Amino acid sequence: MSTKRGNWNSKLGFILAASGSAIGLGNIVFFSSNAYQYGGGAFYLPYFVALFVLGLPIMMMEFGMGTLTGKSFPLALRQLAGKRAEFVGWWSIASAMFITAYYVAILGWAFGMMVGAFGSLFEPGITAPFAPFANPTESASAMVYFFSLLATWWPVVFIFVIWGLNLLILRNGTATIERAVRIFVPLMWLFMIGLVVRGLTLDGGFDGAMYLFTPDLEGIADANVWRGAFSQMFFSLSLGLGTMTAYASYLPKDADQVNNSLLVSFLNCGFEFIAGLAIFSLLFVYALNPAGSTLSLSFFVIPQGINELSTIPWITRLFGFLFFFLIVIAGLTSSISLIEGPAAALIDKLKISRRKALTIIAVPCMIGSVLCTLPIIVDQGLNGNGTLGLSILDITDHWVFSYSLLIVGLVECLAIGWILGADKLRLALNQYARYPLGRWFNVLIKYVIPTLLATVILSSLWEERS
Ligand code: PFF
Repeated sequence: MSTKRGNWNSKLGFILAASGSAIGLGNIVFFSSNAYQYGGGAFYLPYFVALFVLGLPIMMMEFGMGTLTGKSFPLALRQLAGKRAEFVGWWSIASAMFITAYYVAILGWAFGMMVGAFGSLFEPGITAPFAPFANPTESASAMVYFFSLLATWWPVVFIFVIWGLNLLILRNGTATIERAVRIFVPLMWLFMIGLVVRGLTLDGGFDGAMYLFTPDLEGIADANVWRGAFSQMFFSLSLGLGTMTAYASYLPKDADQVNNSLLVSFLNCGFEFIAGLAIFSLLFVYALNPAGSTLSLSFFVIPQGINELSTIPWITRLFGFLFFFLIVIAGLTSSISLIEGPAAALIDKLKISRRKALTIIAVPCMIGSVLCTLPIIVDQGLNGNGTLGLSILDITDHWVFSYSLLIVGLVECLAIGWILGADKLRLALNQYARYPLGRWFNVLIKYVIPTLLATVILSSLWEERS
């Protein structure tokens, strides 16, 4: 293995990898839970504002930084905006490592649910013990299964499986990443479309889905909704963590990054939209109550709905398996990108081999993943307030998801907008763009986005006091 930087074989390879990064747990697990929590229709306006005002321009900026410099995030920032800007790059790399740790932990649980589909988890009305590793004494609902799974050491094993897969895919950089996303990304679209067709064709499924899209103008006065939508958009588009810049740095200099950003963000939001339709149709048809922690919706409420999809056991098992398989592959194409950002940064900075860089990142993150999922820690969270509560995972998620991403976004806009000059970036992007950017781009990067992000960050901090 060498320290040579990679290249995507084709534009398609890049689009698949970047959209694979964007589409992940955020689109399936977090989006529907956030959309529900913030009242369905009320979430949409803030969501679209977040997409067009924040998400798209920042993606263009992060992609542009990668192709302009051919470097990963911290060094790209250094080259474009000076030595001091490099610091925020390393901050984002550290945040990416924190997120990787718990992201993989969640994927380990999803893997456990997937395996459980071969037990009796998804058999309708079954009361027998299920899954080889759980020890349930009562009826085999998804929730009981999930909690008994958490109380065992199996998730730790699954974490090593997921880490193994990640490192396998990352071992040769772009070459192996491209091979994996060419299989996984089309597959996850296929499964999600299958799920939504089933959901919408259920009696009443369509009405459920409409809940998500019925505008609720009262709800949008709530500052929490806006905060939720902004963080959700950053996370969902994989922004503020150095990922997109690392991926873009493997493209030739003449890539049309305006067009690529439009494609990737529409693919991401399109997927999110379809996932929302599928999940809300199930929720409404089976009158499920998704209250609880963020994870409860996907990990035991939706499975409960899947249990009712058919009276034929193998069909419910198949749907259950596919649902979690979908989560696992969507999550994998995201977690590899979460790891690739830091790996690329270390390779560029320290001129070390890919294997060394991956080891430096994987060891602490793996320990973090294990910590998030150790039965004793999870259990303390569970006993704390009856939900996943104050586990390490929740605390990390809270600070990184709600603050760190937005702070990085704010500082990078200031650095590029004011030190390099937004116009320079815009002209560089326009050089190869089929749809050139107008001066509005400068206004967004220099004034609008920093103001919005600063407001959201400060108001969240203010809220924190109470
Ligand atoms: N966008 C991914 C998701 O929606 O699950 C998560 C993610 C991946 C965030 C990569 C950030 C990142 F750099």
